[in-house]
Amino acid sequence: MIYLDNAATTKPCKEAIEAAEEAFINFANPSSLHRLGLEAEKMVLSARKAVAALCGCADSEIYFTSGGTESNNTVIRGIKAPKKKNHLITTKIEHPSVKEPFEIMKESGFRVDYIGVDEDGTINLDELYDKLDSETALVSVMHVNNETGTVQPIDKISKLIKQRTAGAFFHVDAVQSYGKIPFLPEKLGVDFASFSAHKINGIKGIGALYAKSAKILPWAAGGGQQKGIRSGTENVPGIAAFGAAAKFHLNNNASEIARLRGLFLKNIEENIPNVRYNGSRVDFSPYILNVSFLGIKAEILLHALESRGIYVSTGSACSSNKPMPSPTLVAMGRTKEEINGAVRFSFDDTLTENDVNEAVAALCDEVAKIRQVMR
Ligand SMILES: Cc1ncc(COP(=O)(O)O)c(C=O)c1O
Repeated sequence: MIYLDNAATTKPCKEAIEAAEEAFINFANPSSLHRLGLEAEKMVLSARKAVAALCGCADSEIYFTSGGTESNNTVIRGIKAPKKKNHLITTKIEHPSVKEPFEIMKESGFRVDYIGVDEDGTINLDELYDKLDSETALVSVMHVNNETGTVQPIDKISKLIKQRTAGAFFHVDAVQSYGKIPFLPEKLGVDFASFSAHKINGIKGIGALYAKSAKILPWAAGGGQQKGIRSGTENVPGIAAFGAAAKFHLNNNASEIARLRGLFLKNIEENIPNVRYNGSRVDFSPYILNVSFLGIKAEILLHALESRGIYVSTGSACSSNKPMPSPTLVAMGRTKEEINGAVRFSFDDTLTENDVNEAVAALCDEVAKIRQVMR
């Protein structure tokens, strides 16, 4: 099996599974005052330290959530905007867990602007500059795009926000960058950021929110756990596994993955005619590669590769079951043919040169076969 769908989810690492098992055995509630409770609390504290260390923030700035979706919703729907600030900004290429909460905020009376991108998928900074005003309460921009891997210039965006409007918060959906490429929210002037454990070899249903200040209304009110920002008994096995996965990712192999991604793309472009690369050739995540095979329906190619034990994706996992064109590729100005033929290959640190060679050889065969039939 060659699994190239790591942007959808990754295989849990051995360390994460062991940490979860330990927390299942010590099943106590971390809020309990007895010894068993204190041991469970220790696991949560140690995991929080590891999760914070991976993005260079203080432990006190990390809140555990059920994943990237919850972290995004918590910030966007819970932002404590001052009365006169009624304006929100995001982009046209966000994950649905950002896009949908913005739609909800719009329906509840907020003015919302969606910033466009260029053909590489990089957001238009001039447009952002023009849209920022004194009423802007929150700007939300993803770090790495989950479909194309394009990396947004978070430092420049942060500076623009501070230059143009006082008191606007900056949220970054860092689900596809956290633990993979450097993301240091404090240094970048980011107020809130979202992370997800299952994208970094942790387990599903656990994530984190980085919050510099607690200027958000909790959507889950209750027992006051995690300073009241996220009530509810903590998912200790998930949290322990997240901590172990975060430690595991302290020494990831991004430069080798970048080399293999480069080889993958080069081999495709040299051996398969009529392809178009979707993304930036300058600022990209080494873990995501998106290519359109013209004249081919990506879903047919996906299943042809699957029959050879190679697993890829046609769009983001969350939207690939909806028969609608990828809004990200639409925003990048891709044609219908390019969008229909777009395949995402996404990697983790276990990728080898052998995998790359085998996958590209299979691609060459299957693309030629499908094109032959469609002629
Ligand atoms: C960029 C991005 N944001 C948010 C999410 C949602 O994360 P989760 O699956 O942890 O809810 C995903 C998942 O695909 C994603 O790629």
